[in-house]
Amino acid sequence: MTPRHFLSTQDYSRAEIDALLAQAAEFKRSPQGQQMAGKSIALVFFNASMRTRTSFELGAFQLGGHAVVLSPGKDAWPIEFDLGTVMDGDTEEHIAEVARVLSRYVDLIGVRAFPKFVDWSVDRQDKVLAGFAKYATVPIINLETITHPCQELAHALALKEHLGDLSHKKYVLTWTYHPKPLNTAVANSALLIATKMGMDVTLLCPTPDYVLDERYMEFARQNAEENGGSLQVSHDIESAYRGAHVVYAKSWGAIPYFGRWDEEKAIRDANRHFIVDEAKMALTDNGLFSHCLPLRRNIKATDAVMDSPACIAIDEAENRLHVQKAVMASLIATAS
Ligand code: CP
Repeated sequence: MTPRHFLSTQDYSRAEIDALLAQAAEFKRSPQGQQMAGKSIALVFFNASMRTRTSFELGAFQLGGHAVVLSPGKDAWPIEFDLGTVMDGDTEEHIAEVARVLSRYVDLIGVRAFPKFVDWSVDRQDKVLAGFAKYATVPIINLETITHPCQELAHALALKEHLGDLSHKKYVLTWTYHPKPLNTAVANSALLIATKMGMDVTLLCPTPDYVLDERYMEFARQNAEENGGSLQVSHDIESAYRGAHVVYAKSWGAIPYFGRWDEEKAIRDANRHFIVDEAKMALTDNGLFSHCLPLRRNIKATDAVMDSPACIAIDEAENRLHVQKAVMASLIATAS
């Protein structure tokens, strides 16, 4: 039987997301549990992490379980994901073996694998995550690939803690400058969870090239329709910020420029003024500010914003621990 995975919040109903958030709030009040007693999780990182790794390792420990961290290509063998490849290059084993062997050892597998940033038509297939989900016989958790569902839950929990009911709260996802083109995962995820919570969502970005992949725009439109919120795109900073209850910042590379980043850099460089600063936050309705972290200060947001009472990024980061415990406990219970 195919196990239930946690690959995307789109695979979960609003009621299921609410249940995970309620369980996370319970873990926040009462951190210790035995939901993973005798159980283990392999955390497979193809990219760097501070929050995800720490919070998953601690979360498993606090639930009586054990975490094993692997970095293929560094402390574990490099893995091949394509079928039919004559493996005479750098990869030493195939995902068909890796996922099935890990499934014999552990009860859950978490996977972080960012896009390669060369060809979006390839990256959007999310081959690494899909490969694990195809071959594993235990539940897979997305630790950030082309979406970041654990971050979504932590973000939603932090917003609910500060605002209560999120329906029709005005939510702005703003693109910000960054010296490098970054993953669209958190931006995709912000649209998914904010619309799932029934918020009135504005995607603020410098030009139409920065609008997100149509798959996630369409999911967000569906979520808005199902949950009573709305979704619009704006390139006008002042009108987007005015009256906002939440400003969520993220930088990402423009999808039409994948593989042509030298050309995109000129557009990015011309839009450094998208930085979140006090003047923009003053346009909001006492709005909250957050970011998934890590964040380059005075590039994406000013010191003044980061150090203001409006900034809930640390609460959101803490909530990673609580929501991931809820996800692990739920998947273990479902698989048992
Ligand atoms: N927000 C987040 O996923 O942080 P890390 O990259 O440090 O895990």
